[in-house]
Amino acid sequence: MHVSAFPPGPTEVPAIQTARWLLRPIAFMESCRRRYGDAFGVQFLGFERPMVMLSDPEAIRALYTAHEHGLPPGRSIALLPVMGPGSVLLLEGQEHLARRKLMLPPFHGERMRAYETTVREVTERELDGWSGAGAVVSSASVSASGESPFALHPRMQAITLEVILKAVFGVTDPARDERLHERLPLLLGDTASPILQFRVLLSRRLRRGDPLAGLRELMREIDQLLLAEIAERRVESNPTHPDRGDILSLLVAARFEDGAEMSDREVRDQLITLLLAGHETTATALAWTFDLLLRNPATLDRLTAEVDAGVEDDYLRAVISESLRLRPVVPLAGRRLASELNVAGLSLPAGTDVTPAIWLTHTRPDLYPEPYAFRPERFLEDSPTTYGWVPFGGGIRRCLGAAFAEMEMRVVLETILRRRALSPASADAERVTRRNVTFSPRHGTLVRSRPRPVPAPDADPAPEPALVA
Ligand code: HEM
Repeated sequence: MHVSAFPPGPTEVPAIQTARWLLRPIAFMESCRRRYGDAFGVQFLGFERPMVMLSDPEAIRALYTAHEHGLPPGRSIALLPVMGPGSVLLLEGQEHLARRKLMLPPFHGERMRAYETTVREVTERELDGWSGAGAVVSSASVSASGESPFALHPRMQAITLEVILKAVFGVTDPARDERLHERLPLLLGDTASPILQFRVLLSRRLRRGDPLAGLRELMREIDQLLLAEIAERRVESNPTHPDRGDILSLLVAARFEDGAEMSDREVRDQLITLLLAGHETTATALAWTFDLLLRNPATLDRLTAEVDAGVEDDYLRAVISESLRLRPVVPLAGRRLASELNVAGLSLPAGTDVTPAIWLTHTRPDLYPEPYAFRPERFLEDSPTTYGWVPFGGGIRRCLGAAFAEMEMRVVLETILRRRALSPASADAERVTRRNVTFSPRHGTLVRSRPRPVPAPDADPAPEPALVA
């Protein structure tokens, strides 16, 4: 078989390829697939070599199962100034592995039950703030008809932020809680700003200016609040103190294999990492799931009926898997090769940046018949495959919060569907736009919402269908 060093790819100058990726990422990737097939190289501006994008599960398996590969530099450029040098998302090699091992137990699937109640309470409280008409109470736009449209995405962000504050940070001191509620959204807004990201890249290229000067004061204040919280937990983390159960407490109590603990500064870096990695991603995934459900009424009806009946949650899980397949929130999760990788007839040298093109993998007709149809049933029949379904990346860097995110999505969806009847507020399905590192619904998923009748708690149970017949 002929083996070549690099796959073919678009021939435009790097500025044009970068612009196509930034502005129309889906159209760009799909046109590359049509012309070049399963693997192609994209030349981004400022990079020496093309980034190789793969979509064949076997090639992805080869990439993710070789654990020696590192991270492409993109992750650190954008995130290091905020997440800090101890972040599990940015460290590599042994340092990464040691932190990952330390942080895995609190995120283990079985522990997730403990956080379900928190997520449910946070969602209920958010819904209490929606007016009877459907929009948020504080909004002045409630129409006379009683159903003004509103964007769901910001409401999902409010939920996921609150969940992280409660389940991960576990802040209970009211003054500190209030300050964090004020300051964190500012940090999240600033770090998502494309202008700031552009300035960071530019200042790196020009080697002058401090585009983050404005952010530093805000970060200093947030750090003080977090360090105070960490100090409190250190005092509490003695065997006689009741376990609070939040992830911060578990991180403070955790020990490396040599018995050492994470420093306060490192714990702070992990908290900010979990916030930035877990907040926007999960909110976006929820906004997409609602968009897909509202465009597919039969699926929405089936899911609502199953949620009402309180039966097994297999269908809910299938809906979430299918939503993450058809609308993967994070488009790329790549590696910089530490050694040569031989895949798909290619021999890629060490130093190459290689990534699954997650969207393309998830829309392969050989893996998913009718790939653009939203059909959760496909995951009732077959569970997602490890390397053909990669919304959370893979291998030793697979998303640490995947079980947490899926639990959160299940509980939020269930709670909202029980209490509200949602309908789309625009004729067209949402289109994909890039927001920070995510693929996001362009208009934030505009919906209308009506309260659903709440069944009286002690009402007689519905008669069995057989009796009615
Ligand atoms: C639907 C929601 C989410 C999506 C789609 C998502 C996706 C991803 C992806 C693609 C990666 C990179 C994986 C790789 O390189 O192989 C990642 C890493 C990570 N995610 Fe998530 N994520 C989500 C939610 C969360 C949540 C809720 C948390 C924590 C509260 C979290 C924490 C992390 C961390 C710590 C990493 C770094 C893992 C490492 O480098 O070892 N994520 N996530």
